[in-house]
Amino acid sequence: MQVFIDSANLDEIREALSWGIVDGITTNPSLIKKAVEYFKAKGKQYSMADYITEILALAGSNRPVSLEVISTTTDAMIEEARLLYHKFNPVAHNVVIKIPVNPDGGKRARDFDGLKAIKALESEGIPVNVTLVMTPEQAVLAAKCGAHYVSPFVGRLDDLLRKRAGLSFNKEDYYPADGFIVGDQLLEDNGLLSGIHMLRIIKDIFDNYGFGTKIIAASVRNARQVREIMELGVDIATIPFDVLRQMIVHEKTDEGVQLFEADVVPEYRELFGR
Ligand code: E4P
Repeated sequence: MQVFIDSANLDEIREALSWGIVDGITTNPSLIKKAVEYFKAKGKQYSMADYITEILALAGSNRPVSLEVISTTTDAMIEEARLLYHKFNPVAHNVVIKIPVNPDGGKRARDFDGLKAIKALESEGIPVNVTLVMTPEQAVLAAKCGAHYVSPFVGRLDDLLRKRAGLSFNKEDYYPADGFIVGDQLLEDNGLLSGIHMLRIIKDIFDNYGFGTKIIAASVRNARQVREIMELGVDIATIPFDVLRQMIVHEKTDEGVQLFEADVVPEYRELFGR
């Protein structure tokens, strides 16, 4: 099981790397925006190229770092992917390019532009992380194009199910893996009962056919969801900083530390020269 940090914030990345549990980093334009705002509020300004270079150097050659394109047509995405890869990969040989599985944005004019870009980039040796995957079908199409990674968005599928049912919720609220019953109705999106359910199906299908594409569970919202991801045996989970913190916190652990601290007798303390 690999743990990626889902962040573009250098402070968070540096801190999480120091714990020794981070195997990679995923960014997206929204995470970059958040990081830029965070550092601006602290009175710091970076050039974007220097900032990305620092993330890559911190990660080092054994930790892939996903950087996302911003265009939505095959040619433009390929051009941006090449630019990002050739400019930044020499820093630490760890760049992976994020391409949306379907960059069309709802116009139904360019539904397959993502697949074409994935195929072209993988053919020229540029590793791709296929993002915004919301169904097993999309994951399979991406895998068929030879993608290194697919990123199913677990939390955003749960958001969709709750939103359609008119429920009010906070982003970090737990969503039952086996489905949510509202009134007498089991919420579902074309047979998908939750983000975790989608992930389970993708894993089963990939195992059935022996696809080499690795699954990155993305859009992870809480520690319980991480547990469910780990239980499924998914290759990688990319986890936001706050959820990583949730994973280490328990009130009985806190209480236990306080009790042990209170019970330290002088004789035992002396051992440590304190
Ligand atoms: C990572 O690859 C994704 O871009 C990210 O997990 C999306 O998370 P969100 O749905 O919480 O924005």
